[in-house]
Amino acid sequence: MKIVNVAGARPNFMKIAPLMKEMNQHPDIQPILVHTGQHYDEKMSKLFFEDLQIPKPDIDLEVGSASHSVQTAKIMIAFEQVLLQEQPDLVLVVGDVNSTIGCALPAVKQHIPVAHVEAGLRSFDRDMPEEINRILTDSISSYLFITEPSGKENLLREGISEDNIYFVGNVMIDTLMANKAKAEQSQVLQTLDLVPQNYAVLTLHRPSNVDNRETFLRILNALENIQSSLPIVFPIHPRTRNRLDEFSFMDRIRKMDNFRLVEPLGYLDFLKLVAESKLALTDSGGIQEETTILKIPCITLRENTERPITVQQGTNVIVGTDTERIIQESHNVLNGKRIASQMPDLWDGKAAGRIVKILLEA
Ligand code: UD1
Repeated sequence: MKIVNVAGARPNFMKIAPLMKEMNQHPDIQPILVHTGQHYDEKMSKLFFEDLQIPKPDIDLEVGSASHSVQTAKIMIAFEQVLLQEQPDLVLVVGDVNSTIGCALPAVKQHIPVAHVEAGLRSFDRDMPEEINRILTDSISSYLFITEPSGKENLLREGISEDNIYFVGNVMIDTLMANKAKAEQSQVLQTLDLVPQNYAVLTLHRPSNVDNRETFLRILNALENIQSSLPIVFPIHPRTRNRLDEFSFMDRIRKMDNFRLVEPLGYLDFLKLVAESKLALTDSGGIQEETTILKIPCITLRENTERPITVQQGTNVIVGTDTERIIQESHNVLNGKRIASQMPDLWDGKAAGRIVKILLEA
């Protein structure tokens, strides 16, 4: 069985790692790894391949950054050629980035079945580019591998046959569990001069938060307050770095004594940073899941989540971007208010094994 696996942007790499590892153990599977090149900086890509020991991609499409349409179109054109050349039995895509839909569409047009890992998640916010990518990819996939029960409800409502939906757990958590011990060796706290349980980790990169000056300013006002009680460390995404300069926010940031901007971190350093933190403030999807397993309080700076289980069973609180609300929730954590959390069903480190078994038996 020849399977072309696709990874393109940072959050894809953690999801593809355990799948490649699992496929490489089965003599009946010939896995091929395609990197679209959506993310290309060393710190956004190569570092993850090294940390997670992902095999070097067999094919790199090197599409780079562009507008959504141009980027997705470039991926489609290049990936069509890969399919013509490789003639795979299946294409496997993960997550919800432009590379996900950009590779799923040429595959189905060539009558090659698509497996979508992390299917069924819905924020119900169609202004999010990822929501469009999710809906479209799910609607043309033959295997829909879901991480949480909400995925099934969403897919059934959209008319997907129950026979194509498989509840397998979460490959992102496979990666977390496989690397937790290794991450403990990371020296990132010493390097950044941080005291365990005495800092917050911040990530921020959603266009809805950082591309809008007013929204970004509301968040910044909250961060200014929080950092006076708890140091904040902020590994900054290139998109956000560009906006800080564009909106002239750097001067303001330099005046915050306990606010540390750092370069994007690799997987192991970032895992260690979150695992030892007091609190995570984020607009990322993956971090809502990782904090649930690490039992670190997570304050999500968005109006919604496509991962409701992290709120129902995990440590996640959705606070939006209102300055006072962000401050209030952060102080709740500082004042010792903890949310009891439990491990979501099948987030046990074995999701990739389940997926590969299903594909082999199909
Ligand atoms: C993409 C995904 C998003 C995911 C995020 C994780 C889509 C629609 N969005 O958003 O779901 O959460 O990745 O990081 O696919 N840039 C660099 N170096 C890089 C990559 C990007 O400098 O290696 C800069 C470029 O200026 C680029 C900008 O970041 O224009 C945005 O990159 P892009 O891949 O378009 O979107 P992300 O915001 O990273």
